[in-house]
Amino acid sequence: MKVGIIGAGTMGSGIAQVFASKEGYEVTLCDVSLELAEKGKKNIASGLEKLAAKGKTTPEAVAAIVGRIKTGLAENVGGCDLVVEAALENLSVKKELFGRLQTICGKDTIFASNTSSLSLSELSRGLDREVVGMHFFNPAPVMKLVEVISGVNTPQALIEKVEKIAKDVGKTPVLIKEAPGFVVNRMLIPLINEGVAIYAEGVASAEGIDTAMKLGASHPMGPLELGDLIGLDVCLAIMEILYTEFGDPKYRPHPLLRKMVRGGLLGRKTGKGFYDYGRK
Ligand code: CAA
Repeated sequence: MKVGIIGAGTMGSGIAQVFASKEGYEVTLCDVSLELAEKGKKNIASGLEKLAAKGKTTPEAVAAIVGRIKTGLAENVGGCDLVVEAALENLSVKKELFGRLQTICGKDTIFASNTSSLSLSELSRGLDREVVGMHFFNPAPVMKLVEVISGVNTPQALIEKVEKIAKDVGKTPVLIKEAPGFVVNRMLIPLINEGVAIYAEGVASAEGIDTAMKLGASHPMGPLELGDLIGLDVCLAIMEILYTEFGDPKYRPHPLLRKMVRGGLLGRKTGKGFYDYGRK
């Protein structure tokens, strides 16, 4: 199966690795420039090489996975059976992209989006086919879940095809009917927002809050270190969508989250968020 991935950032590269890890899949990893696509591929290779150095995989397996990934631009996904969009989390950017993809791809190509909270019905409006949500979790090669999301007009047969593909690459799909934040982000991002509120009130230190949730609730990461991993800008954007769509004050983004995003403290990707990762 030929899979095009649009967007070679953290999520796009992780998703490319998921597909390329399975024999029988050929991946074209794309971005707005070949340089960015190549950078994504290099990040995949270096991550896998680190795993090989720890004895968690073999150099042969790494070479096979990397060998199944080509790089390109959106124009190069014409022959793909499935295109997974992992571009900027912005409705107009995604709509413009899918509009272009329908002129590049055949009519049978499945269009999927890794959107973390946008409406699939809105994304599909005006296109010649329905876009299915195929929402992976960070880090995509490790996290087992894929939320498979249908919009109001998505045909059942299309959902079943995507569900089957997700299983085939080793993921566990959960079928979801479009709703703000879907399932995971509707619960997880408000949890992170509450962690920000507890921190802002001076109730406990960042380390204290994270340790409390790891040891008191068996979460693998605390809410603040997880916010730094996801990106505080992404967390804020999802809170804004929950707040706007539900109109419920329980989803109000905390002002400190807003302030940190305005100041460029986005977490690991900028080198600083609730923790200091060394300047990027
Ligand atoms: N490719 C393949 N395997 C990898 C890998 C990679 N790039 N990176 C790590 N792994 C494997 C490791 O080899 C290891 O495998 P074994 O268990 O077989 O040894 C396993 O993954 C765990 O890795 P580590 O031992 O390095 O790390 P860890 O045990 O500390 O776990 C973690 C790291 C998986 C990130 C864990 O801390 C965790 O689950 N954190 C929570 C992550 C989470 O909640 N993500 C969701 C974010 S929300 C989101 O993404 C949605 C959105 O729209 C915002």
